[in-house]
Amino acid sequence: MEVVIVPDAKAGGELIAEAIGALLSRKPDALLGVATGSTPLPIYQALAAKVRSGAVDASRARICQLDEYVGLPAGHPESYRSVVLREVIEPLGLSEASFMGPDGAAEDVRAACLAYDKALAEAGGVDLQLLGIGTDGHIGFNEPCSSLASRTRIKTLTEQTRIDNARFFDNDITQVPHHVITQGIGTILESRHPILLATGEGKADAVARTVEGPVASFVPASALQLHPHATVVVDEAAASKLKLADYFRATYAAKPAWQGL
Ligand code: F6R
Repeated sequence: MEVVIVPDAKAGGELIAEAIGALLSRKPDALLGVATGSTPLPIYQALAAKVRSGAVDASRARICQLDEYVGLPAGHPESYRSVVLREVIEPLGLSEASFMGPDGAAEDVRAACLAYDKALAEAGGVDLQLLGIGTDGHIGFNEPCSSLASRTRIKTLTEQTRIDNARFFDNDITQVPHHVITQGIGTILESRHPILLATGEGKADAVARTVEGPVASFVPASALQLHPHATVVVDEAAASKLKLADYFRATYAAKPAWQGL
């Protein structure tokens, strides 16, 4: 996988927004998979700024969700559907019609998961999948020991993830759902270009184990090593435990600009 070390979160957001802009100029109706949480916000802000300035035309972009809480009432401000509408769809000037996600309020959750995998395939597959990473190495909500071949399905969040996400629920862990629907690791690996952004020292361990450790379901993000075109963008703090950091810096510095990410 390619590892790009950037000075800070803002630079990471800018770099990835540029890659999305390049994709949209090649393929205006590209299907862009979006993650939620704090990490990708600088990407969405940089991309929206490019759209506003006219540097990027995102008018035909299609957006799909990576995961969703199970059981939050429709319209709950922290449902991932609400978050993506607020942070991505509205700032990019897109309509809800350009957006799809799993139905976290479905009575038949298993059917909703199957329907979502089918919808992604029928839409032609995900062109670029944005990912964050959990402190435990999860991508999407594929918690440690998720099958590396998994498809979209229901998962139970670890206690650590619920603690990490309590900040979105008034710091009250009892409000954080126990269950989610998440694209599986196998589903994520089918995207044409997964890009993982990790920022801050709290992610340094997970990043080192993802990039330099063995491929193991205990560190779900390490499955990205199996993808022929995966990119990991990290700020200096998140890169602080990488043994090969100097090599990654030198490699990226020598990379021809035309290659992009
Ligand atoms: C969210 C998601 C999660 C987050 C991860 C990191 O859609 O899939 O994997 O990316 O939990 O969250 P933050 O960015 O808030 O640290």
